[in-house]
Formats: sequence, C-alpha cells, structure tokens
Amino acid sequence: MSQITVTGGKPLVGRVDIKGAKNLVTKAMVAALLGNTASVLKDVPKISDVEVVSRLLQLHGVIINHGDDGVMTLDPSNVESARMVDIDAHAGSSRIPILFCGPLLHRLGEAFIPDLGGCHIGDRPIDFHLEVLRNFGAVIEKLPNGTRMSAPDGLKGAKVSLPYPSVGATEQVLLTSVLAEGITELSGAAIEPEIMDLIAILQKMGAVISVDTDRVIRVEGVEKMRGYSHRALFDRNEAASWAAAALATNGDIFVGGARQPEMMTFLNVFRKVGGAFEIEDDGIRFYHPGGELNPVVIETDVHPGFMTDWQQPLVVALTQAKGLSIVHETVYENRFGFTDALNDMGAQIQIYRECLGGNPCRFGQRNFYHSAVISGPTKLKAADIRVPDLRGGFSHMVAALAAEGTSHVSNVQLISRGYEHFLDKLAALGADFSYTE
Ligand code: EPZ
Repeated sequence: MSQITVTGGKPLVGRVDIKGAKNLVTKAMVAALLGNTASVLKDVPKISDVEVVSRLLQLHGVIINHGDDGVMTLDPSNVESARMVDIDAHAGSSRIPILFCGPLLHRLGEAFIPDLGGCHIGDRPIDFHLEVLRNFGAVIEKLPNGTRMSAPDGLKGAKVSLPYPSVGATEQVLLTSVLAEGITELSGAAIEPEIMDLIAILQKMGAVISVDTDRVIRVEGVEKMRGYSHRALFDRNEAASWAAAALATNGDIFVGGARQPEMMTFLNVFRKVGGAFEIEDDGIRFYHPGGELNPVVIETDVHPGFMTDWQQPLVVALTQAKGLSIVHETVYENRFGFTDALNDMGAQIQIYRECLGGNPCRFGQRNFYHSAVISGPTKLKAADIRVPDLRGGFSHMVAALAAEGTSHVSNVQLISRGYEHFLDKLAALGADFSYTE
C-alpha cells in the first residue's frame, strides 16, 4: 500500500501541464473499436483508468501503442472475442467496460462485460445503459460474474429517452447508434464538453450526429466507419483540482493546457470565493491574491452547471473562507464521505439529508447526506488519512498540504487513476513530501 508523508503549510507554487480528459480519453479509446482502420489519439495521459481500458481492448485484439509523448494508436483490424475469465480479471476496476457493449455487439455480435468498479460515491446503477441497449435490440443476460449480451437481429436505431442526463448512458447511445440501422433520437441527453468531443471524434469516423436544442441528439446510422486522428479535450477536472489546491494553500499554479470555455462555470465560482485567475493562450494561472476568502452557495449539476467532480477540492478551499458556505450535491447521493477526514483535521463541515438549495434533486426526503455546510475559516492540522476515492483523495492531499504539521496519507495510488504523474507534479509545485511503496 503506497503512502505519502506530507509536511504542509507551504504554498503550492509553479506550473503543471495537463493532458486529455480521463472522462473523454477512455471513451475515445472504446470508439476506436467502431472503425475499420487504425485511430490516433493525442494527449493521452498515463493514468490507471487508461491502462485498464487498454488491457480490455488488447484482450479483444486491438493493437495499442501509447508513447511517452501521449500519442496513442489503436488498431482494431483484428477484433476478436475475449475469454470471459480474462475479462473478468478486470472486474471492479473501472466503469468504462459498460461502454464496450455497442461496439462489441456491432463487431462481434456478442459482448461480455465484467462487474463494474469506479469510485464509491453512490449506488451508480447501470439501469439506463441496459434499458437503452434493449431498445436497440440487445438481448441481455446477467451472469454471476458479469453481463452477457447478444444481438441476434442486429442493432436498430431507436427513440430513447433518459430519465436523467447521464453522461455514461448518453455515451452508450452514441457508441451504439452510430452503426445501428436507421435513425436514433435521444432525448434527455447529457451535453458535457467531453460528450461533444466524443461526438466530434465519431463525426471524424464517418458518423452523422446532430445535437439539437433541449438535450436532443439525433443519429443517422451509417454502414461503416473509419479510424480517427484527434487531440483529446483537456482534463477540466484536473485543472479545477489544481486551481482549488492553489487557493487552499495560498499558492499560485499555472495549469498548462487548461482553457476558458469549458471552465466558465468553475471560473465564476473561483472568482466569487476570492481566487484570482489569468487566462493565457497556453493555460490558466490560478492564484490566491491575498486577503480573506469568501463563502459561497453552490449546487452541483449536469453541464452547464457546476460539476460534481469540482466540489471536493473546492470544499477544502472553502474551509479557509470566512463564513458559511453551502454545497448541495445533486448528481451523486453519497459524495460527502471525504468530509469526515477533513473534520478530523480541524474543518467544520456538517452534512445534511435535506436539499439545501433550489435545484430539483432526486435525493431530497431520502436517507442521503447530500448537502454540506462548511464553516470557516478553520486552521487545518495534520492527520493520518486513507484515500477513499479519486476526487476525495485529491482533496485529502490538498488538506494535508494546507495543514500545519506532518500528515500520513495512505492508499494514494488511487489518485493515479485520474491524475497523471501526480507526485512529480506535487514536487514541481514545491510540496514537501516523501513517498513509500
Ligand atoms: C461520469 O460518470 C464520470 N465518469 C464521473 O467522473 C462524473 O462525475 C459523472 O460522469 C458526472 O459528470 C466517467 O466519465 C468515467 P452519470 P458516469 O451516468 O457516466 C445515475 C470522476 O471523478 N445513473 O452521468 O458514471 C448515477 O447513479 C468521475 O472523474 C443511474 O441512476 O455518471 C448518478 O447519480 C466520478 N443509472 C447520475 O445518474 C444509470 O444507468 C449521473 O451519473 C446511470 C447513471
């Protein structure tokens, strides 16, 4: 189990460069299965989610090369069925395997998907995915160790509607409909920038997709698609994480590769809290301009709202704001588990079952602690922490870096699921830490 010993209280200052978004790159890799020629994806980070998806694609005969320059080639010329036992070895390691369904059904007529993993931030069911696939004509059988699918009559375009604009289920529809026979109309679609980038990739491959108003996406199925060449959208979750780290540690971080348009909602909140930023051609500088930080009221939401993945690092900065901040989490029912460790470090965060906000939310009047009130500023003190999940873990690291004294943070390898060269970046920012495997 990997552990970091961190001596905090020192501002993080310097530059980090970020690559393509974890939540786009992994899906773009799956999209390569749909082409009849090789694809080239640029700016692919070396993170463990990318490794898991690479291994699953390789099991299905895709030849992959991932260079140190971040360029990945994926050759799907010889796609083949993989052994269930080999696929099963990846059970619980990621949520991406569910997106293999459509492409594998098109290529092979069958698919086996292991039980899924990913962060424990709620139940994270796959009911929307399965319902959508059934609409396209897939026959689904639940086995003890995963899910088997077939498409005896091929996949046909369908009119589908999502009860909630799920990112993954929207991607499921896209990856399945592009080669399905006829027209698909999806209403209630998610429209995150990562989804728009996936649509751009699919269009390069030969797909016909239009994004209409009011969350409606229309796809006209085509008979065949080719490989693509694409530079992945930057990771705005990583950019927001470093921005929050700059604020929480009184620091100054230039995030190379970050862009303004996809971060506008975050930038507004960052400014309201009292953070400063400067937008340059090649990235964004985020810094604490001195003085007091202000409390804010935010509600996480689907795009173009404030992303759920931005909430956890920002909460650490809010422990340093003067007054009461409120965060209403409306995307996941259980994403405040990380606040226990922050309270152990001296933060004052109360979580509530009630909806503390005006957004319609699926979790009100139920047993989900999905609203948080943060009272600040509080001095953070060092502690022994175990990383619970990706974003929560990053927040704990930031809290340890902001705290006086020496903290021990274990299970840190989880952070490398989504942050490339995490420790090198911390070192480049002047963090005082040592690492033991
Ligand atoms: C993606 O997860 C991201 N993961 C998440 O990032 C991100 O938080 C989330 O989208 C929202 O932006 C990847 O892209 C790999 P959803 P996804 O389907 O697609 C419910 C991170 O830290 N739901 O939009 O799994 C679900 O339980 C991660 O980088 C169903 O009820 O998210 C949740 O409450 C964490 N049934 C809500 O919808 C379903 O079949 C949104 O989930 C599917 C989803």
